[in-house]
Amino acid sequence: MSNDQENTETITRFPRPKDHFVFLMTIDGDFLLSDEKGELAATSKVSDAVVWRQQGEILRHYLTDKVCEVIDRSLIDIEIVKGPELLPSEYLRQFRLNGWVCLPDILDAVVVDNLQRVACTDDYSEFQPDTNNRQLCQSDALVKAAVDPLSLWLSREYMGTSEVRLAHTPGIGVLTPDDGKRVVQGWHSDYPYHWGIDAAGKVPTPSGPTVMGVQRIICISEFTRHSGATAFKLGSHTLEKPPPEQWGLAQDAYHPKYRSDKGLPYGGADADVIEAPAGSIILFDTRTWHRAGINRSNRGRAAMLMDTTPAYIIPYSDTSQDYKALVSSDIYGQLNQREKTEIDQLMVHRFLGPAGPRSVIGTDIELTEQLSPNNRQR
Ligand SMILES: [Fe+2]
Repeated sequence: MSNDQENTETITRFPRPKDHFVFLMTIDGDFLLSDEKGELAATSKVSDAVVWRQQGEILRHYLTDKVCEVIDRSLIDIEIVKGPELLPSEYLRQFRLNGWVCLPDILDAVVVDNLQRVACTDDYSEFQPDTNNRQLCQSDALVKAAVDPLSLWLSREYMGTSEVRLAHTPGIGVLTPDDGKRVVQGWHSDYPYHWGIDAAGKVPTPSGPTVMGVQRIICISEFTRHSGATAFKLGSHTLEKPPPEQWGLAQDAYHPKYRSDKGLPYGGADADVIEAPAGSIILFDTRTWHRAGINRSNRGRAAMLMDTTPAYIIPYSDTSQDYKALVSSDIYGQLNQREKTEIDQLMVHRFLGPAGPRSVIGTDIELTEQLSPNNRQR
């Protein structure tokens, strides 16, 4: 256990990249590639084939060296958007090797700004949160971040299935400055493993090569150890077991007297912190031990969590009501076709069978109320 002094986790820092590849995006949100014959074609699938480099007015296709000019007539209705710092295949190599990967400064600056506005952090710290509308419907930025194409592609490849879902509605959380006595989160693995958490339905045994979850953390504010970046034990997914009890488990640390009796959960050099600029996405195998950081700054630190699971895993919470609200909101019309298709696949859970996806799964509100302890006949 540490006391309440500044933690000493080992820092892995990702500076803001000096250069990015670009994607050429159609109005439907698909990506332009150049095939072996030098013909341009659109695809919804991310790969190294959709990566271009912009040099002034020149666009150079990474794999084939095909060159287009920005003013080329064949690029009418094509938008040049910010791509990753490294090739998609390089990020996938790192993810498979290490069980985690960071995509520094991957999100569009407008999306990051809108996320900070919804979070009421950074330049919007004087704002008050909108408590009248569902968070998902407050800005198209939440959906645009949730369907970020590279992080989704990496999640699908890492889990070995294209049929992935969001285990919960994407939600922004703000870690406010620590007051020295509040309850803090202890060490755990995320859904569905839930090792270190007293939860029904946790994965009871190691799952080996079957990966049941990839967590995506969007750094809405800059992540630093001082401002409460998430603490990890990087590589611990391979251990296939819960964090050690003496590190301070989530199931213990939430008790109100835990901190005053035992201090903070472990925060020494055997733990890790990933520092990254706002707009970065950190992906990790959900078996990885981690806990929320301690925010020792004087301002809120915002993040958005998007636990992604294969379609055969029961969702952590019902996403259907948020999805229905999104579709009937003004936000939905601001999404391109790829974004609409992706958020449908991610948030609508369906029964699966040999004939393909069938009925949509959602909460039966009437039955839930009927069976609630307060209403049950004794
Ligand atoms: Fe977690």
